[in-house]
Parts: sequence; structure tokens; C-alpha cells
Amino acid sequence: MSRSAGMAPAGSGEKVLSLLQGSGGEFVSGAQISRSLQISRSAVWKQINTLRELGYRISAEPSKGYRLESSPDSLLSPQIRQGLKSGVIGRRIVSLQEAGSTNTVAFRLAEEGGEEGTVVVADSQSGGKGRLGRVWVSPPGVNLYCSVILRPPIQPMSAPQLTFLSVVALARAIEQSTGLTPRIKWPNDILVNGKKVAGLLNEMSAETDKVNFVILGIGVNLNMTLDQFPSDLRHPATSLFLESGVTVRRTDFARCLLQELDGIYATFLREGYGPVRGEWLQRSRLAGERVTVSNDGNVTSGVVRGIDEYGALILEGEGGAMVQVVAGDVRLAGD
Ligand code: BTN
Repeated sequence: MSRSAGMAPAGSGEKVLSLLQGSGGEFVSGAQISRSLQISRSAVWKQINTLRELGYRISAEPSKGYRLESSPDSLLSPQIRQGLKSGVIGRRIVSLQEAGSTNTVAFRLAEEGGEEGTVVVADSQSGGKGRLGRVWVSPPGVNLYCSVILRPPIQPMSAPQLTFLSVVALARAIEQSTGLTPRIKWPNDILVNGKKVAGLLNEMSAETDKVNFVILGIGVNLNMTLDQFPSDLRHPATSLFLESGVTVRRTDFARCLLQELDGIYATFLREGYGPVRGEWLQRSRLAGERVTVSNDGNVTSGVVRGIDEYGALILEGEGGAMVQVVAGDVRLAGD
């Protein structure tokens, strides 16, 4: 089960932090905090100490009050929110120390009426879910595990479009944060130098002709080291740190990802699937390439001509016939 906001004191602790963060680097007096939050001066002092224990450096001067000097790289909601430029995505951020799976937490919130744009983020997952019933390895302190509630006005059949949308946002965020060049592997893996760094697991609640909500589940290996990967992985995996040699600040990455998601989702609602499809094709670098797709022992080969509005890969086979492939493991011919 998930524990709430274990990375920070619940309630007033987060609020004290928000006040310090909102002061633009200036001191905030204890009296002012106490007045704003309607808590006693000694409660303010306690919250400041708890924040310090969590890794926040807060200076105190008797005549001036408290000033936030630096923050740990945690995934607390006020920290992600600080400077977040987004309209819908991240309007509510639920930070958990540990979740079974952030997708499960987000799904339950959505069933209870959680609003579009709500984000659930966890420092670690004890039961991280991957595609096809696999486990998503989710150690604490190093990566990003998050799930986003969307309530798009689309037919259930079109829901795969959101998978393409989220994988494009993720690729943009990786490129911006690291300068690496990620490649999208159909349908929704992200590879860097041929190894998987991120994956998506989207889940949906729908009726015959209406989507109630979609949960975008996003896992990114940011700073994992080699010894943290299980030795029996089916496909080679890596982290952004291992590929770039630079530690990625999780807070900054999360903010960047939420902004990219926000931007592309707004475009999707305004202009439809076209722009997403175009960017997906370009970032997959599959268009015009000869590939083979294997699915349960069946192998289909052809030249990639696009993806359709339901997410299927369109291949031109021998003799020019077009074939739609809905699932499988895609490989560039010659890989
Ligand atoms: C894959 O197999 O490639 C998909 C992995 C998806 C992992 C993310 S981590 C956040 C969210 N919560 C989960 O339990 N899974 C997704």
C-alpha cells in the first residue's frame, strides 16, 4: 500500500517549504509563517527542523527569520511545482515515499473523481508494473516513476494515440535534459544507444463509446547504476546517467517532462493526432526503414510507411501490399 507524502512532513511541513520557496531567496520571518499557516511559532520551528532532516539547508537569523539555501533532489510536490510552467498537467501532484505502483494509486484516485492533470510520483515502487505483466525495477532515490490522470474527449479505440503522445513528450524531455538523442522503439520504449532507458504503461477505464480516464504510467531510469539492474533482463537496459556520465536531477527532469506533456497534450486537444504522429515517426527514425516484427513466433517484414490512428505500424510488404501490425517486437533489418 502507498504511504502518503513520506518524503516530507504532511500538511504544514509542505506549506512551510512552499512559503520559503516562494520568497525569491529572501528571509521569511517566523511570525509571518506562523500567521500565514495559522500554526504556533514552536510548530514552525519543528517543521523547519524536520525539513532540515530531509536534506533542506535552511539558514536562520534571529532578526530576519528563515531562508531556504538549497534543496535535496527529492520529488516533493512543492519542489516539482516550483517554476513549473504548465496549464493542466501537474495541477495536483501527489508525492509518495513508496508506492506499490503509481499507476494503481492514480487509477484509484481517478475512480474517486481525481481531476485531469493529477500526477502521482513515488520515490520507489514495491510492485512497479511493466508491460506484458513484467516487473518494472524501481529502487529508491535514483529514478522517476510517475502516473498522470487524463480525461480526453476521445473514443476508446483512439486511446493508443495517448501512448504515442506520452512517448514523444518523454523523448523531448530526455533530449532537453541530457543532450542525448533518444530513439523511440515502437510502440513505446525509449532507447539510448540501443538500450532501453524508459518505458510507458498506459491503463484505461472506458465504456463502449467513451473514455472515462487514461493513466499514463511513465518510468525513466535516470541515475541507476549497473549493479542496480537485475542480471536477467530480457533486453539491454541503461540509465541516462550511465549513457551521459552526468547525474540527472530528478526534480528538474520531472518538471521538464510534465511541461512537455502539458504542451503536447494541449496540441493534441487542439489539432488532433497529426502532429503527434509526425513527431513520433521522426523520433522513431523508422519511416522508410525495412523492419521485422515478431509476435508469438509470427514474423512480419516490410518497409515502415507510418502508424495509423489506432497505433498500428503500417508496413509495405513484398509486392507493395500494406500490412497493419498491432503488436510485436520490432527490429530494424540488419540489427
Ligand atoms: C514497460 O514495460 O516498458 C513499461 C514500464 C512502465 C513503468 C512505469 S513506472 C511508473 C508507472 N507505475 C508502474 O507500476 N508502471 C509505470
